[in-house]
Amino acid sequence: MSSVGYANEQPETESYTYQAARLVCQVAADDKSKSERPLRIIDLCTGTGCISLLLHALLAPHFQNLSITGIDISPRALWLAQKNLRHNLQLGQLAPRATTDIHFHRADVLGKGDGSTPPIKSLLRSLVSNPSEHTQCDLLISNPPYISRAEFRNGTTARSVRLFEPELALVPSDSISEDFRSEDIFYHRIITLAYELETKIIVLECGDMAQAQRVVALHKRLVSKESKFSAGIWPTRERDLAEYGFHQTDGSRCVIIQRLS
Ligand SMILES: C[S@@+](CC[C@H](N)C(=O)[O-])C[C@H]1O[C@@H](n2cnc3c(N)ncnc32)[C@H](O)[C@@H]1O
Repeated sequence: MSSVGYANEQPETESYTYQAARLVCQVAADDKSKSERPLRIIDLCTGTGCISLLLHALLAPHFQNLSITGIDISPRALWLAQKNLRHNLQLGQLAPRATTDIHFHRADVLGKGDGSTPPIKSLLRSLVSNPSEHTQCDLLISNPPYISRAEFRNGTTARSVRLFEPELALVPSDSISEDFRSEDIFYHRIITLAYELETKIIVLECGDMAQAQRVVALHKRLVSKESKFSAGIWPTRERDLAEYGFHQTDGSRCVIIQRLS
């Protein structure tokens, strides 16, 4: 599939999304219970929706029942995500059922919310029509803001990124915590949320190897002793980069946390 239609997706993000889709298929194939409920995917900080759209294109042929929820705080990002969805439907890159399988919503992943933006938990609650419905999440994926304010200002962030991406997309809002660095705040929040949703697979893009290692350590601190998970760090796969014509990059890394049943 061409990457052209998925506006704004970085090659690393695209590569991780392919890996995530492969893992979802593999886990579903190994799952003896063969549940009838839809495969449930949540894409936090969805931006222009490129991860959600690509996942639909990759997974719809394998899953009859698919529910993908993309969430972002920015109304402009959500407007672009809807536009991106319509554009890819018109191009025939997405199956027509994408209109009912994919939904974009506004919420604050950090949980504060305000008059116009609900906190993430109330949004997720409102999406479940029947309170007894099983809300387990199969894949929670996110490429959240992960650059520190200092790094953003001191020129270490690539100029192309600094000039064309809004600060909201890159730099987490300032937070003071003794437990984690301010640029890691989204990971803390997302991992906690993922456990609450009994998520099977968590895929988190990180800025570099050091941040990915901090995220794995954060997961180990936050997870309860009784739960069984495996956690690792994916490199961008060279083969994907070559196969889909991407430029080689050595920057970002991806943390993958999997619930062991
Ligand atoms: C690095 S961009 C990722 C966009 C997209 N997922 C991708 O991979 O191209 C981060 C996104 O996080 C969103 N964001 C920032 N703060 C947020 C918050 N508190 N809650 C939800 N989304 C937020 C921004 O609007 C932006 O779209």
